[in-house]
Amino acid sequence: MRITTKINLLTTAWMLCIMVLINFVVFILFMKTTVNMEEDIQFQKAEEIVKDIGKKQSFSSIQGELKDYLTEHSYIRIVDPKNKVLHQVTNDLLLSKKIKGKYTKIKQAQTRLIMAEHGEEEVLIVRVPIHNGKGSLEISERLIGLETRKETLRGILIFSTLLAALLSLLGGRWLANMIMRPIANMIKTMEEIEKSGVPKTITIQTKTKDELQTMARTFNRMIGRLQENIEKQKQFVSDASHELKTPLTVIKSYANFLRRHGLENKEMAEEAIQAIHSEATRIQKMTETFLDLAALEKDHVLDSKELDLISLCQSILKQFKEVYRRDITLHFKEYPIKIHGDELKIKQVIIILLDNAMKYSNDKIDVYLEKDKQHIVVRVKDYGIGIPQGEIENIFERFYRVDKARSRETGGSGLGLYIAKSIMKLHKGKIKITSTEGTGTEVVLILPTIDGSNE
Ligand SMILES: Nc1ncnc2c1ncn2[C@@H]1O[C@H](COP(=O)(O)OP(=O)(O)OP(=O)(O)O)[C@@H](O)[C@H]1O
Ligand SMILES: [Mg+2]
Repeated sequence: MRITTKINLLTTAWMLCIMVLINFVVFILFMKTTVNMEEDIQFQKAEEIVKDIGKKQSFSSIQGELKDYLTEHSYIRIVDPKNKVLHQVTNDLLLSKKIKGKYTKIKQAQTRLIMAEHGEEEVLIVRVPIHNGKGSLEISERLIGLETRKETLRGILIFSTLLAALLSLLGGRWLANMIMRPIANMIKTMEEIEKSGVPKTITIQTKTKDELQTMARTFNRMIGRLQENIEKQKQFVSDASHELKTPLTVIKSYANFLRRHGLENKEMAEEAIQAIHSEATRIQKMTETFLDLAALEKDHVLDSKELDLISLCQSILKQFKEVYRRDITLHFKEYPIKIHGDELKIKQVIIILLDNAMKYSNDKIDVYLEKDKQHIVVRVKDYGIGIPQGEIENIFERFYRVDKARSRETGGSGLGLYIAKSIMKLHKGKIKITSTEGTGTEVVLILPTIDGSNE
């Protein structure tokens, strides 16, 4: 069953229940007040009769008196303490036959159903004591007017209930359609996406801030991100294949040369083998970096713990010094300098920066570790070729290299700083570069302290 039909039927059923309940209460209250009013009238009449009787000397003169008070379909009687009817005037024999006389010491009213000519009928009986103690007055009347009013009211209530149900059914359908329109829109768009495989956003017509509009907007945001990611992926694949194309072309041309000439020219052959080896190494390194990047973009979860940056840097620097035999100095004034982070990833960032410093300078390299109330700062400073001012903003982009020819010699793929920036972002940190061409470069990492936030 469609959700609109379900909402519609449920609201109508609920509406019907409420209407039936309310109408029932209205009906009961109406009946009660009408009978009460009738009772009051009869009591008033009874009081008057009692007062009149009190003035009379004997019961014999009473009979005529009672007749004046008689209304349609009623009787008036005086009953003695033994429930015997002493006087009675009536214009409804059936009524006076059906109801037995009853003596009372207190004022009382009662309604009863009697079997009349056309079925059951309600009658009202009121009894009041007569002050001289010789009996009580009893007035009874068929509630014929009430019966007709009851029927009319019942008819009106049934009609209004049915009308309300009909209006609720029509209104509910309109309301449900209006509410469901954005959802129907969304379903249509999703089906289109499913068929074509191309992410698409939903057109939002109104600018209300209800939940459905929020849902549609969230859906559009999600689609936006999906599109962005697909674009990024496409870009990455095309960039990566482009990057791999150059070394592969070099390898292929040298391999062709070897196939054609073999080892005829030993010097040339050696150069070819050397080139093939170096380009193959470059491809290998590049694929490793691609894998690193893929892993980084896949899981954004950090294996974070408390780290001491000083000992971490010391161990990295030790390895670098041993392998590359370069003059790298670590400077720090406080001990320890702790951060909360993923050890492997932080290590990767520092290695990326040291690798650049080594590649693009021949002089010494300084690494500074500093700490203030909210930040931990790592500075990697080299005194090498530097970066032209206009290029600094680009070097964090994927595959961007300042001078392609220069990077070819150094074997870079232009991904190092992009990876470093992504890792810093995951750690809620920042990376900044200041550089002067020909003088040197300083890369600054800013990380939050363990209990501070990074502004
Ligand atoms: N310390 C530095 N001195 C001078 N130029 C630098 C320095 N660090 C980065 N660059 C420039 O920024 C570019 C991008 O650096 P990045 O580390 O992202 O890539 P890469 O070093 O070329 O390759 P990869 O790090 O992926 O092996 C480099 O090609 C280089 O031109
Ligand atoms: Mg690099």
